[in-house]
Amino acid sequence: MKTFYVTTPIYYANSLPHMGHLYTTVVGDFLRRYKRQRGFETYFLTGTDEHGTNIERASARAGRTPKEHVDYIVGELKKMFAAFGLDTEHGGYDVFMRTTEAFHYEGAQEFWRRAAARQTPKGRENIYKGFYEGWFCAPCGTFKTESELQPAAEEGGQPLCLIHERPVDLVSEESYFFRLSDYDEALLEYYESHPDFVFPDARRNEVISLVRGGLEDVSISRQKSSVSWAIPVPGDPNHTVYIWFDALINYITALGWGSEARRAELGEDLFAKFWPGVHLIGKDILRQHAVLWPAMLLAADVELPRAVVAHGLWLDQTGRKGSKTLGNALELPVLIRHFKTDAVRYFLLREMSFGQDCKVDYEVILERSNSDLASGLGNLVSRTLTMIHKYFDGVVPAPDISEARLLLAKRAGVDSDAMELASSLELVRDQFVQNVEDYAFHRALEAAWGMIARADKLISDAKPWELARSEEQRETLSAVLYRAAETIRWLAVLLYPVMPESSRAIWTQLGLTGDPQEFDPTELKWGGLRAGGRVGAVAPLFPRTDKAKTMAEIEKEIAQRKESDAASAASPSTASTASSSSNESAGAHATQAAVPGSQTASGTSPAQPPMQGATEAQPAPNAQGQGASASAPEPVASYITIDDFVKVEMRVGEILTAERVPKSDKLLRFTIDLGEAQPRQILAGIAEYYEPEKLIGRKVAVVSNLKPRKLRGFESQGMVLAASVGEEGRPVLATFAEEVPNGARLK
Ligand code: MSP
Repeated sequence: MKTFYVTTPIYYANSLPHMGHLYTTVVGDFLRRYKRQRGFETYFLTGTDEHGTNIERASARAGRTPKEHVDYIVGELKKMFAAFGLDTEHGGYDVFMRTTEAFHYEGAQEFWRRAAARQTPKGRENIYKGFYEGWFCAPCGTFKTESELQPAAEEGGQPLCLIHERPVDLVSEESYFFRLSDYDEALLEYYESHPDFVFPDARRNEVISLVRGGLEDVSISRQKSSVSWAIPVPGDPNHTVYIWFDALINYITALGWGSEARRAELGEDLFAKFWPGVHLIGKDILRQHAVLWPAMLLAADVELPRAVVAHGLWLDQTGRKGSKTLGNALELPVLIRHFKTDAVRYFLLREMSFGQDCKVDYEVILERSNSDLASGLGNLVSRTLTMIHKYFDGVVPAPDISEARLLLAKRAGVDSDAMELASSLELVRDQFVQNVEDYAFHRALEAAWGMIARADKLISDAKPWELARSEEQRETLSAVLYRAAETIRWLAVLLYPVMPESSRAIWTQLGLTGDPQEFDPTELKWGGLRAGGRVGAVAPLFPRTDKAKTMAEIEKEIAQRKESDAASAASPSTASTASSSSNESAGAHATQAAVPGSQTASGTSPAQPPMQGATEAQPAPNAQGQGASASAPEPVASYITIDDFVKVEMRVGEILTAERVPKSDKLLRFTIDLGEAQPRQILAGIAEYYEPEKLIGRKVAVVSNLKPRKLRGFESQGMVLAASVGEEGRPVLATFAEEVPNGARLK
């Protein structure tokens, strides 16, 4: 049997999913259902990427351990995916892959060992130890190039990630490197000999020119002390595997690669059966999938994927990528509450020209749902079946017109035989299939809607309500309604992978037995609907939505949600992702009072980033961090010890003077009494939020053993602490409710 393995990216389990994540999963689900109809044995993977700093941070904000946090997110994500028919129970994914699975640890470590034991095409070791320094954006989970950053506002400050509009961290440490630079020729040869490997062409060209421009080696580990929530590097417990290296391997460990335990659990060798697969991704993670991953596979001597297929991004109306961090992505709970989930699935596949970016808001979905579904498909089904009930007592009428009635039919504008309609349906079906094969889903659906228009026209030209008045035109009426109903049957088969639930509902309303998923669209033959059978009860498929009313409800709901997020952000002890259906970044977390660049920059410019990284790190299969054991390694939370904590000296300080720093919008310059012989000069980036005069006399918490550094020509001898609130990270100074002496230590 032909097999088809399709994957989505595994989503970061730091926050709840949004429409962007839903999209790739819907596309995967659509393709697998379509391929199954076409007779393929299919396997569909989606899942979560559960390691790294970002997840550690999100879990700390939510007051959970990383493991508790990822379990919570996975639970919510599965519920949301189920609402869209994407889970196993509804015929969706076969495996929900999680990188915290024991078998994945085993497989990922085996992969590392295999790559480490082999040489690059240029005869050098694949993995070596070096030193890495770069700007790392935790929400992106990647290192950034200069072009992906907005330069720091102040000298020595932190640049901002252009996507998240937040400061990035300078990360510098000993690291293992993957010698990607030795793979340029091998990759170019591969792209050349496999023209379908990267789709669409624009992305293929992008990848080729990137590789031609030369590749840098990739940092693939972090020190355990900086990222502990990750897979340990085999043989070196002080290092953890950098999450992109860990995450990409999931596509094969899920199938049992590298783990006897997983193969036993699966009961068969799915890797032999299904690999190589097709990776569906957003274009934001193209480089990792089309450059790093194939090079990794070459390094470990594993066959490369069949294809990497990249779609465009959903943008908000201002053209920014929809993301959780920016809070501008459409929220799944809102979609679930206000739309039929099949309407959302249809919208996603119809609206976006696959490969290109697309703007979206709730209103566009409402409009499409009303026009294409309520007035289009839904109306065709209900008017046709209602007429079959009304004029034929619910019995499917005969398709043919006898010789004697041909002229009459012609007079009513109805062709004597249905062959013209049948062949135009075949044509549309072929267009549909071809477009799906070409990933042009929007065109496939456009074609299907051509069928709807055709059937609508058939009805409005023939005017069954007029034909029904004349006994002589009974056969014409019968033929018209049969043709409309048979067209609907074809539509139910074509649209099954798009809207499984509605297509089944149409099937039942047509009085058919079996399931549209069992029909191969290419084998549809005119006349499959049996005359004389009974149609079922008519039920509205897609009720029309009152746009103004629904939009008002949605807006109110979102405003309330934002308010409650802001409230939980304002009281850190209650800040929790559990309380929020959306924006994980809205939580409050203790942070430096925006003293820029206090991370200790050595002054060196950051190295070229690795292939875009991700967050980092976590647990150990066994004490040695090697020997991939089949027994489940318990993930270890990323705690710091008391020894780590006491390294940070925090003291109570009293602000004696406060003034703005000339030519800086952000910085305030304080002198602060820490109970020492001399007050200290400390700078803080809170000028946009606080009037300096009002802070004089305020007691604040100060990190007093931070290495002094210069900002705008002033030396800052410490750091004032503040909570960072809401999306824009508004600082709220940490202060004391009771009287405390200057210099008292915070413990
Ligand atoms: N964990 C990595 C992927 C590792 S795969 C081995 C990751 N996760 S993610 O949560 O950030 O998800 C990225 C994917 O989500 C994108 O590639 C895309 O499939 C989907 N989308 C997230 N936001 C999106 C839009 N605004 N628009 C369309 N899809 C995007 O990267």
